[in-house]
Amino acid sequence: MYKCAVLLVLVAMQGTLIWSTCDVCQSNGAACINQTSYNLCFGGSSPNTAQTFTCTDGLVCTDQPIICFQRSETPASCGDTDSCGQCAPNYTFACTSRSTFAFCFGATKPTNVTGSCPTDYFCDASTQEICVKKTTDDSIICHLDKPILL
Ligand SMILES: *[C@@H]1O[C@H](CO)[C@@H](O)[C@H](O)[C@H]1NC(C)=O
Ligand SMILES: *[C@@H]1O[C@H](CO)[C@@H](O)[C@H](O)[C@H]1NC(C)=O
Ligand SMILES: *[C@@H]1O[C@H](CO)[C@@H](O)[C@H](O)[C@H]1NC(C)=O
Repeated sequence: MYKCAVLLVLVAMQGTLIWSTCDVCQSNGAACINQTSYNLCFGGSSPNTAQTFTCTDGLVCTDQPIICFQRSETPASCGDTDSCGQCAPNYTFACTSRSTFAFCFGATKPTNVTGSCPTDYFCDASTQEICVKKTTDDSIICHLDKPILL
């Protein structure tokens, strides 16, 4: 039921297809404001911005029940979207969301040849494997739930 409410809020806030889950109350009651900090929702549907909390070193804000989780296990809920759609450094592929990618075939812009990672895998622009099950400290994750429009 709570998940449904969260989804409705997401849909209501959406507006465009390009969004990440920053400033959105997650099922764990936290709304990540960037990779490492968050506000609490206190059961409501909007974050209480009076207090800001920051995860301790090495942990990132996630939708996991314990909120702050090891970066090497789960990508942050929200954060950097700079890498989305970027073909560099190897011009092989670009991540277009947390779990989708597009091939670049040597070009600087991704082509319309796209794919999706298997369930529970993340697109990681730092590895030739494209989709990985666990992120690493060097992972380059595109923090978007829906693919950017190319
Ligand atoms: C996240 O936001 C907090 C609060 O605004 C800020 O202090 C912190 O430097 C930010 N962290 C990053 C990685 O941007
Ligand atoms: C990709 O783009 C090419 C050239 O614009 C077009 O011919 C082709 O139909 C497109 N393929 C898909 C899957 O959209
Ligand atoms: C880029 O190419 C280098 C050299 O071939 C390789 O070591 C590296 O893993 C590649 N990186 C990616 C993201 O594919």
